Amino acid sequence: MRVIITVDYKEMSKKAAEIVKRQIKERPNTVLGLATGSTPLGMYKYLIEMYKKGEIDFSNVITFNLDEYVGLSAEHPQSYHYFMFHNFFHHINIKKENIHIPNGVALDLEEECSRYEEEIEKAGGIDLQILGIGVNGHIGFNEPDESIDTKTHVVTLTEDTINANKRFFKSADEVPKKAITMGLGSIMKAKKIVLLASGKNKAKAIKETIKGQLTTKVPSTVLTLHPDATIIIDKEAASLI
Ligand code: GLP
Repeated sequence: MRVIITVDYKEMSKKAAEIVKRQIKERPNTVLGLATGSTPLGMYKYLIEMYKKGEIDFSNVITFNLDEYVGLSAEHPQSYHYFMFHNFFHHINIKKENIHIPNGVALDLEEECSRYEEEIEKAGGIDLQILGIGVNGHIGFNEPDESIDTKTHVVTLTEDTINANKRFFKSADEVPKKAITMGLGSIMKAKKIVLLASGKNKAKAIKETIKGQLTTKVPSTVLTLHPDATIIIDKEAASLI
């Protein structure tokens, strides 16, 4: 696992955007795995800027998002659908049919999970997966547990996650209790992985990812087994390593 420590959030975001840009230049029909949360927002801003300057063409790029809340429709302002369109997809020339996000309001959630997993396989797997990290070391919405499903599945969110994500909702009660997430296996099959983290509240999770033992109790530790994983963190997120 490569670790890149940057001076601040801005540099972290720029470095991540440059990796994405390089990837798309090398392979215009790249399959990108994308993350939500506040961490990748800076990277999305840089990518939009690069697109506006004519430096990236997203017309053949295919994307798969990591996760979506169960019960929130695409129009709900706190859904990850809304987040992705509002913060990224509306501003670039990606084709709508190339965008994939799990459907959190599917009638049959199990079927939706299998469908999503099949779609990833049909696209040839993910070339470059961008990840954030939860304060408890979750990636996507793979929460710490005794065992973790490897494929796309429905999860029950932990209290830590509900507390961390309630800032986007009116109250903790409004945060959905379940989500659909790509599994650790789906993530690990990506050819390249880039995990981003910024700020002191991520320092413990980063320390455990890099220096801790491989355990499903800290899902991000699985990344130590990946042949091409890079962690880009700012000084604060790196403060405990
Ligand atoms: C959510 C998402 C994760 C993300 C995490 C961290 O739980 N499911 O994919 O990594 O939040 O979010 P933030 O970047 O806002 O700290």
